[in-house]
Order: sequence, then structure tokens, then C-alpha cells
Amino acid sequence: MVDPSILAAPFVKRFGAAPQIYRAPGRVNLIGDHTDYNEGFVLPAAINFFCYAAISARTDKQLVMFSENLSETIMAPLSKSIGRSSKWTDYPLGVFLQLQNAGFTLGGANLYIASEVPIGAGLSSSAALEVSAAYALLGVFGHQADPLQVAKLCQKAENDFVGANCGIMDQFVACHGLAEHALLLDCRSLQFQAIRIPDSLRIVICNTMVEHKLVAEQNDYNTRRAECEEAIRLLAQDMPHVRALRDLTRNDLETHRDLLPGTLYKRCRHVVTENQRVEQMADALQRNDLKQVRKLMAESHRSLRDDYEVSCPELDLMVMLADQKPGVHGARMTGAGFGGCTVNLVEHTHVDEFRRHIAEQYLATTGHNPEIYVCEAVGGAARVL
Ligand code: GLA
Repeated sequence: MVDPSILAAPFVKRFGAAPQIYRAPGRVNLIGDHTDYNEGFVLPAAINFFCYAAISARTDKQLVMFSENLSETIMAPLSKSIGRSSKWTDYPLGVFLQLQNAGFTLGGANLYIASEVPIGAGLSSSAALEVSAAYALLGVFGHQADPLQVAKLCQKAENDFVGANCGIMDQFVACHGLAEHALLLDCRSLQFQAIRIPDSLRIVICNTMVEHKLVAEQNDYNTRRAECEEAIRLLAQDMPHVRALRDLTRNDLETHRDLLPGTLYKRCRHVVTENQRVEQMADALQRNDLKQVRKLMAESHRSLRDDYEVSCPELDLMVMLADQKPGVHGARMTGAGFGGCTVNLVEHTHVDEFRRHIAEQYLATTGHNPEIYVCEAVGGAARVL
């Protein structure tokens, strides 16, 4: 983990002013994928990979953004109408615009971004960037950040400015994360309950290193959303109370199956069963019923692979390799899919052996070295200097 004060010296050198420093975490979702935009349930945890945003106010109307990861500086004049550039700066710029639209008075600023969240790995590097930038912009201009409002505005920035039609999960958990806990979030009411992760377990994330190109991923992701919307339109003809797939029961789905083309039926079956699994998983974790945890995560992976069709051979291989080992209480793909990472709940005494096994076998089969991260669940966005 970066010591935040380390960022102060390069910031002063670059911008000639002392910064305030904020950070927001990446996330891993234990279960409940592609349910958030269907107003269903998710169970993510914020993880100890952070995006840091150091900031100072400027006297002119410029947003000067520097990325330490890319060694790149981009300046955006704030006076003219700001357009999308399809670069990383769309995230902080989109956030700036949303905050301003929401009535916050902001000015020009120097923004220095340094992120530990692996990019394009499905661990929400974009939400961490958005949320850290939002906290920094609000803080430096003297506004108090309300976590729920920040989460909603950052999601809106990603939907309206960046053009990715994401749900609320990533931004929500980046703002509300809690040490040692996952959050059981109802994406309709936005009420959540903290679910303690059993002490003996470690969250181990295995990165397939398959990076779906951002644009392609957005297209596939947006297609899935459109399929869900089309299914609702068809189902609502007979069941007007179905406003989102959240409102559909398994029984409703089966009795109205003939309203849906085969693909849409499968998409719905994933969402309906995944919502049930999220609630069952929260319950199983609280009862320390690790057999049930393992079963639910396996079912979730199969459902994402076969019904929602967002897995890929490398993710399936990672899950299969994890299943071979003792001490593994669950393995599944996590996040949007199409590449990225698996999440594994591993008994702490078995972590070293697990890592070794995955690293060796994945390399032997694919020719690629996977990255493996042993994570902790952490608190949400905050000022650190
Ligand atoms: C991405 C989106 C989230 C969610 C997941 C899939 O991470 O940003 O809103 O839809 O995919 O669960």
C-alpha cells in the first residue's frame, strides 16, 4: 500500500503547492453479478487496493490532471463546454461536471492520480478513480462529501459522460466499504447490511490477465443490459407489476416462459437465481456454513457462464483449478466478466499452497503468468492527508 505522504513531494514539485490527499478502494464482488442494474442484490467488499487523488485548487479555470501510472498530463479548460475524449481523464471530468450540475461550486484544480487498482481486471479501477476524484474535488473546495450522493453522481458520470451503462454497485462500495465486511446491498432501496467475512477466510483474487478491450467490454455489457430491458418489456405485457427483473420470481418466469425468446429466458433465469443466491450467501457467511458458500459460488459461476454468457475459457479454467484444492470454500468469476478475475474464499492455512497451485497450473495450460492478490476488506473513500 502506498504511504499517502509519499505523493506529497512529487505533487509539490509538479504543481508548486501542498496537496490534500484522498483515496477510494477497488472492490471485489463475492456474489451477485449483473444483478445491480436489475435492481437486485449484490455482495461486494472494498479491497485494499486504492486509487489516490492528490489535489490543490488553482486560480485559473483549468483542470490539470496527471496520471502517475501513465506519466501523462492532460489539461482541460473548464470555461468551454467539455466533451468526451475517450481517455482516462473522462472519469474525473465527468465527475467534475456531475458535481457542478448537482450544485456544488468548484473551480480549477491540479489533480494527481496514482492508482494501485489493477486496470481492466474487473476490480473497479474506474469507480475508484471517479470516487477518489469526487472526494478530492469536494474536499478542496470545502464541501462535505455525502457517500450516497457521491456514489450516485459518480455512477451518473460513468453512464452519461463516459458512456458505460454500469449499475451502482462499484461506486456504492467504493464509498461505503467496511473493514472485514462485505456489503449486502439492495440496489433498489440502496439499503445495506454489513456481513462479516469469517475470520479464518482470505479473499484471494486470481487475475487471468485477459483484458477485454474497454470498448468491446462496454458493448457486450450494454448489450446484456438491453436484453434485460427487452425481457421486462415482454414480460410486463402479462405482468405489469414487473418493473425490473428484481420483481420476477422463478415461478413467474417459468409460467411466462413462452413470452421470451430462448436467449432472453436464460438471461432472466440468471438474474432471478443470482438474486436468491446473494441472500442465501449472506446468510451462509453469517452462519459460517462454508459448504453452502462453496455451493452457491459454484452455481453462480455456472449461471454466469451458461445463462448470462459472460465468462471466458480462462476464467473457467481458474475456477476449475481452484476447485481441485482443499481449503477452498468457493471460487467464481467476479464483476462484469469477459476476462478479468476470479474471487476465491480460501482457508488462511491453505493460501500459500493455493497460490502455488494456481500459478503453476495456469501458466502450464495457458502460457501466461497470472497475478494473484490476497486481499483484505477495507473501509470506503476518505481523506488521508
Ligand atoms: C461492472 C459494473 C457493475 C456491475 C458489474 C456486474 O462492474 O460496473 O455495475 O453491473 O459489472 O455485476
